[in-house]
Amino acid sequence: MEAVMARINLVLVLCVAAAALMASFVAAAGEGAAATAKELRRGFSVTHDQSYSQFQPVLSDPTGAFALGFLRVDTTMLDLAVLHLPSAFPLWRAIPDRPAPWSAAASLSFDGGLVLTDHAVNKVLWSTAAASASAGDRVLLLNTSNLQIQSASGSSADVVWQSFDYPSETIVQGQNFTSAAALYTFDRRFAMRLGSNYFGLYIEPPPPSSSGVAAAMYFKHTALEAKAQIVAGGGPTYARVEPDGFLAMYQKEGPPADVLSFDTFNRGVRAFRRMTLEPDGNLRAYYWDGTRWALDYTAITEPCELPTTCGAYSVCRAQPSGRCECLANATDGSGCATAAAPAASVGGSLCGTTGGEVGGLYRAVRRQGVEPVNKELLGFERAASAADCEARCERNCSCWGAVYSNGTGYCYLMDYPAQLLVEGDERKVGYFKVRSLEDEAAARGRSGASRVKAVLLAVGVAAVVGAAAFGAYKVWDSRRRTAVDARRQMGDVDDGLSPGPYKNLGSFSSVELTNSFRR
Ligand SMILES: *[C@@H]1O[C@H](CO)[C@@H](O)[C@H](O)[C@H]1NC(C)=O
Ligand SMILES: *[C@@H]1O[C@H](CO)[C@@H](O)[C@H](O)[C@H]1NC(C)=O
Ligand SMILES: *[C@@H]1O[C@H](CO)[C@@H](O)[C@H](O)[C@H]1NC(C)=O
Ligand SMILES: *[C@@H]1O[C@H](CO)[C@@H](O)[C@H](O)[C@H]1NC(C)=O
Ligand SMILES: *[C@@H]1O[C@H](CO)[C@@H](O)[C@H](O)[C@H]1NC(C)=O
Repeated sequence: MEAVMARINLVLVLCVAAAALMASFVAAAGEGAAATAKELRRGFSVTHDQSYSQFQPVLSDPTGAFALGFLRVDTTMLDLAVLHLPSAFPLWRAIPDRPAPWSAAASLSFDGGLVLTDHAVNKVLWSTAAASASAGDRVLLLNTSNLQIQSASGSSADVVWQSFDYPSETIVQGQNFTSAAALYTFDRRFAMRLGSNYFGLYIEPPPPSSSGVAAAMYFKHTALEAKAQIVAGGGPTYARVEPDGFLAMYQKEGPPADVLSFDTFNRGVRAFRRMTLEPDGNLRAYYWDGTRWALDYTAITEPCELPTTCGAYSVCRAQPSGRCECLANATDGSGCATAAAPAASVGGSLCGTTGGEVGGLYRAVRRQGVEPVNKELLGFERAASAADCEARCERNCSCWGAVYSNGTGYCYLMDYPAQLLVEGDERKVGYFKVRSLEDEAAARGRSGASRVKAVLLAVGVAAVVGAAAFGAYKVWDSRRRTAVDARRQMGDVDDGLSPGPYKNLGSFSSVELTNSFRR
């Protein structure tokens, strides 16, 4: 009898404790919600507070799933971002042209438009003013993660500016992606753009645009137009991630002109979805399953079709998949761009004349048995012979390579430095203009052209940097997974905050978020 009473007491105590805990949690949440800025009015200003380790929230959406705030990026830099709080994933970033360090005396203010200012140098880092014609009256973060500036004209609220029109590398469910916007990886090496009836992934030319390098398309998805036609003059097309698990292409609302289905297509999975152009150049879709981003779609599944697998001036082998070889023999292990074959070299500018607009030294490398993996996306001409094909490229200032197929008589011309090459049959003959670091040094010494340097940096080093970035990303990704797993084992994921890609996320907790909204 006494034992039973003791047990009942214990249960009672536990119940009371649990209730108290729950009450305090609810109270904390309620307090947080009450103190949270849900709307910014004219005259609003907030100063960046460095005591936040990763993210200082400023404005939250009605559900508390998203927040706009100061985000620490690349360890040391400051940006404005809309974060998905449970994952700490930035769904949108302002990406100022001149980024400021995290230690900057920055402020975010609203006076018709949002302005991010660095007070140390008294400079506007970023603002919505250039993009919006009229001034707004309030800033809201919608439950879709869309950051809106609205003007209260009469009874209806007009949208003066919205973050959905300026995506960074991610679009979310319900966000219209138009040809007026593009997704860029944060390093701006890769882009996703919408065409009239397709979308494509591109290797971006290095700045400046006069570098004589074009964007290289490495993936194209064309609308099937099964349920709706895309008609010329019928308005711009747009793409949108839909709740049923697909990327739709439309010209007008109604049945889509194209359905690109994800793994969970029509399976009744109702979750928050996003599509992101990732640092490796791949396009992936995810949904938030409550604890992690579940992968739902991957655009490129063949390693050799991904530009970061091998980088510039290399050949990707299908067997074993994803093994890379330099186009010309590497000599010092510093990347394929430095490995121009000296024996086969010819001096001269890209189009055979010295001092031309696109000028700069290159070496010619010829190789049999290679072809562009994206040849379906390249323009081709018919040529009588490999020599004929090569000659067309050699004289052409915007040509970086030509591959002749002796089987079909097609001559593929590449208007970007050799990449995305795979092994082909022996009847394919390639001719490539390769810039080496020595050439660049010499060219710079002679002409002093900074343009050359830009090409060198972007093309030559891209392969190395890309590989390093991808490696780092992988390390981060595996660490993140390990951390999530560890936390899961500790039963520590119920707070809905799983570690994101930022250091010190231990201190980035719901407590910090709640406190930050108190004034
Ligand atoms: C988001 O807000 C809209 C109205 O603005 C509402 O209809 C919808 O249910 C909300 N969604 C969520 C997930 O809260
Ligand atoms: C997307 O575009 C459609 C058609 O123009 C429009 O009705 C809808 O409001 C847009 N959605 C957003 C979030 O802008
Ligand atoms: C690479 O080196 C090997 C042997 O050293 C040689 O046979 C081959 O022709 C070289 N290839 C190129 C493209 O220079
Ligand atoms: C020069 O090469 C580019 C591709 O590299 C091609 O599009 C263009 O038609 C070529 N121009 C001439 C005159 O052959
Ligand atoms: C191309 O094909 C022709 C005729 O079949 C042949 O004579 C020539 O050797 C081939 N050239 C190459 C590079 O394979």
